Formats: sequence, C-alpha cells, structure tokens
Amino acid sequence: MRVLIFGATGMLGKALMRVWTDDEVTGLGSADADIRVPEQVQAQVERVKPDWIVLSAAYTDVDGCELNPQLANAVNTQGAVNIARAAARSSAKLLFVSTDYVFDGKNTQPYETDHPRNPINAYGESKAAAEKKTLEILPEACVVRTSWLFGTDGKCFPDTILKLAAARPQIEVVNDQRGCPTYTDELAEVVVQLCRGNAQGIIHCTNAGDCTWYEFAREILTLAGSSTKVLPTTSEKFVRPANRPRYSVLSSASLGKYGIAMRAWQQTLPDYLLQRGPAA
Ligand SMILES: NC(=O)c1ccc[n+]([C@@H]2O[C@H](COP(=O)([O-])OP(=O)(O)OC[C@H]3O[C@@H](n4cnc5c(N)ncnc54)[C@H](OP(=O)(O)O)[C@@H]3O)[C@@H](O)[C@H]2O)c1
Repeated sequence: MRVLIFGATGMLGKALMRVWTDDEVTGLGSADADIRVPEQVQAQVERVKPDWIVLSAAYTDVDGCELNPQLANAVNTQGAVNIARAAARSSAKLLFVSTDYVFDGKNTQPYETDHPRNPINAYGESKAAAEKKTLEILPEACVVRTSWLFGTDGKCFPDTILKLAAARPQIEVVNDQRGCPTYTDELAEVVVQLCRGNAQGIIHCTNAGDCTWYEFAREILTLAGSSTKVLPTTSEKFVRPANRPRYSVLSSASLGKYGIAMRAWQQTLPDYLLQRGPAA
C-alpha cells in the first residue's frame, strides 16, 4: 500500500516514519507542501497517488493559536479541508489526527467519541472545525483523537520536566488538569494498524490510565531517579494565554472495537527514557 504523511517532520510524524515499515511511505514537511495552499496539497497527492493519507501536520502551539487564531484556522482547519478535498478527488483514504482539546473538560468520566465537541480555546476550535468539515467532505474518513503526546522526536512535557529538574531543586506543576499521556511510538504503531484495518469514523487513541500534569511529572522524575521535588500548583497560579480543559480523559472503547489495547502510560515511560538517553 502507498501512504502519504503530511506532518512527517513533527514529533508524531517522525515516529510514524520510523515505525511504518513494509509499506511504501512518503513523508512531507511544510517545506515540501504548505497544507494551507490547496494546489500544493493536490500536486503532492497526484504525484504520490496514495492509498492512505495521514494528516499529522498542525499548528500545535496551543498558546500560539490563542494569540493568532487566524493562523490556527488556516493551518488546522483550512489545511485539513484542503487535504480532505484532495483525498476525495483521488479516492485516497484519510486518517486525520485530532485532539482531546475538542472537549470543554467539564466531564468527570472518560469522553466517548460521540460526545458533543465544545472547545474552550482557539487550538481546540480549529481542530473541532477541521473534524467536522473533514467528515462532511469525506464521511468515511478516520479521525484519531489523541492527547498529551510525548516522544523523543520533539519538544514534550517529560523532556521539559527533566531539563527543569536538572537545574532546580524543586518545581511546581499544575495538579488540576487531568488527561492521558500518550507515547508517540506506540500511537504511531496504532495508526499503522488502523490504516491496515481500513478504520473509519472517530476513534480515541491514548495510552491507558490518566493523571494530572503534577502526577505525570512525579512519575517521570521518580523513574529517572531525580531528587528534585515536585510541588502541586493550580492553573490559576500558572496563567497562560489559552484555557485548558480540566478533564480530557478519552474512553478507549472505540479503539477496543478494533481489537487494539494501548499500554498504561506508566509502562511506556521507561521506553521513552531509554530512547531519550541521559544527555538529551
Ligand atoms: N502534541 C500533542 O500533545 C498533541 C495532542 C493531541 C493531538 N495532537 C495532534 O497530533 C498531531 C501531531 O502533533 P505533533 O505534536 O507531532 O506536532 P508537531 O511536532 O508540532 O509537528 C507539526 C507538524 O506539522 C507540520 N506543519 C505545520 N504547519 C504546516 C503547514 N502550514 N503546512 C504543512 N505542514 C505543516 C510541521 O512541519 P515542519 O516542521 O516541516 O514545519 C510538522 O511536521 C497534530 O495533528 C496535533 O494536533 C498533538
């Protein structure tokens, strides 16, 4: 099968390029095709003639999106529309990577795939609109919602915490946002499986279990053998331009229908730490 990945230079994209063997895979970054420009997208799709397109490209800086919602919409919404249209024209299947931030965080139980979208920041709005429009253009598309990504191919929370801990005796981390950390290497393998299984519709793909950022930081530093102390703080004290959902845990039921179970997030951290190495 021929696969075309938009966003292959990003954190998840690089993991996809690493794990996706046994198929003919072409990976593109923004220098190869700006997804905001329909002609550039169309030209790449016509050149590669993919059976599957994976859209992992996005403007992922949540606070940046809040400060520049036009850019968020251009990349995240219009970019997805351009790719869905090109996929429809060339009869390619599409897997679109989306986010837990399409939800408002008011739930107290894991979000199911059919829960109404109600984003509370510009990034979430741009991705929620992208999901809706993608599924209008290509009803059989697969929308993979994931959350709290970490991996060795990009800037991520564990890396930030390890760098802070190396420089400070104690750090404060918010303890009032709960979600599911997800290791990019494992998610990438699931994406491959879903494409091979002709997946359709909205699927929630995160590592199992949930935690707050504070709990996540504590586990990272414990496993890394750091003596830096982690103190809980609140979102009110740690003000940022964009609001974050307080609870964005995604139910694994939709993934279970494909016979796929992802490991608990705690089990993936040793793999991440080993791959990252001490000097990263
Ligand atoms: N990171 C998370 O915690 C998280 C959580 C939930 C969902 N997601 C979703 O997961 C996907 C992957 O996230 P990630 O963290 O791997 O992203 P990332 O590391 O920020 O990478 C973003 C990718 O998008 C590409 N890109 C940005 N603007 C583009 C444009 N105008 N045209 C073409 N390509 C463009 C970048 O290309 P260049 O580098 O070549 O410019 C890069 O390959 C995204 O769809 C994101 O919304 C991420």
